[in-house]
Amino acid sequence: MRKKIIAGNWKMNVKPSETAALVKAIAEATRQYPDVEVVCCTPAIDVPAAVAAAAGTHVGVGTENCHWKESGAYTGEISTGMIVDSGAKYVIVGHSERRQYFGETDETVNLRARAAIAAGLTAIVCIGETLEEREAGRLNEVIERQMNVGLKDIAAADCAKLVIAYEPVWAIGTGKTATPDQAQEVHALIRATLARLVGAETAETVRIQYGGSMKPGNAAELLAKKDIDGGLIGGAALKADSFAGIIEAAQAAK
Ligand code: PGA
Repeated sequence: MRKKIIAGNWKMNVKPSETAALVKAIAEATRQYPDVEVVCCTPAIDVPAAVAAAAGTHVGVGTENCHWKESGAYTGEISTGMIVDSGAKYVIVGHSERRQYFGETDETVNLRARAAIAAGLTAIVCIGETLEEREAGRLNEVIERQMNVGLKDIAAADCAKLVIAYEPVWAIGTGKTATPDQAQEVHALIRATLARLVGAETAETVRIQYGGSMKPGNAAELLAKKDIDGGLIGGAALKADSFAGIIEAAQAAK
């Protein structure tokens, strides 16, 4: 059984001074859903406040990026060792906004994901096609390339620390959600590709989240699908009540 995992991706929203209140409200609103892994991935500067507010609750904290080098002249980056030291346990890698605006490639996604896993963090590796790629009939090719390169040299033994987030780029922040059937079709492809990379038995244990305009109103039907094991939530993770609504749906779908 794969435990459902609902992670918030706060992106460049929420100030350090606003963080404790949001984390505490999320912890309070989701206490009654013990079968769901709840995570808040925050801007790095919010992490100390988030970790302090989450202490003693079921809420885990993560960052939105990490570098693959342990230290050095990489202005603006944060290392996995720093993330571990801060008390965060998760890191999002390869989000489409990083790919689109900050030059992230499948190769750097791979370096970051491997560094995160080696440091003992859970890496939430994001993949997904643009609308243009989907309409050109390139969906399968794009997903397979992102996985072949992005997950290169990640072994079956590493997969306990791996979560994959399928986020169709055209559904992020647009209000357009993939239909449950569209999402399930890609999740099944992802699991089959994973089976080829790490073996069928391990592939069955890896959680695959859906992301892209997930909200309380559409979460239940997405999470009811066989290969949808959670969500990576942007906009709806910024308010405790909407985030809790998705977690409630995940608890019901367990
Ligand atoms: P959204 O973002 O829920 O606001 O569409 C999801 C994401 O980018 O992770």
